[in-house]
Amino acid sequence: MPDKPSQRSAHPPSPEKPQPGTTRRGFLKSAGMISAGAAGLEVLHGVSVAEEQARAVGPGKIALKLDINGQVHSLSVEPRATLAETLRDELHLTGTKVVCDRGSCSACTVMLDKTPVCSCMTLAVDVGNRKITTIEGLASGENLHPVQAAFIAHDALQCGFCTSGMVMSCAALLERNPHPTVDEVKTAISGNICRCGTYPKVFDAALAASESRGT
Ligand code: FES
Ligand code: FES
Repeated sequence: MPDKPSQRSAHPPSPEKPQPGTTRRGFLKSAGMISAGAAGLEVLHGVSVAEEQARAVGPGKIALKLDINGQVHSLSVEPRATLAETLRDELHLTGTKVVCDRGSCSACTVMLDKTPVCSCMTLAVDVGNRKITTIEGLASGENLHPVQAAFIAHDALQCGFCTSGMVMSCAALLERNPHPTVDEVKTAISGNICRCGTYPKVFDAALAASESRGT
């Protein structure tokens, strides 16, 4: 007859103690196997935990070089610093906006080797040798990038919080596809949230920038 719930122990049997019916030899043997399994985990993927810890950096600041808008910057940042924080707080490149700070709005978009990324979701230490382009690096001296000029001509902004990210996503699109369709523009900026609802004008601006670039 099974025990009533009230008669059962509230605590499961301790794994450290031999259970009734277990011989001392059997207990030691199974404990040894568990240890061997744990040791196996410590060398998973050929890297021991000790080696992994030796490679770890931080939590203090570490030296870092970042190629930003064609200029190499030597920095000292904590490994936990995002690229957005580094651009804004260390280099005062505040054209990159942080709105959600959690990867859901794309306001912080920059390019890494022409690929648009959310800089609030990218650690500065993970950038490596990739070239960073921010909104400050799009223009050539006094000459605005075609996307920037088209945003102005088509009035493709209101409050402006999303605008840097929108411009960067459109510019990155034209880098990989100089003549996008409107659907391709929509896909390219599908992660860019605009609370003001300027999307139709952004589409117009991106297509106009494409035409102004010619071939
Ligand atoms: S601020 Fe980076 S995705 Fe919103
Ligand atoms: S212009 Fe205001 S959020 Fe896009």
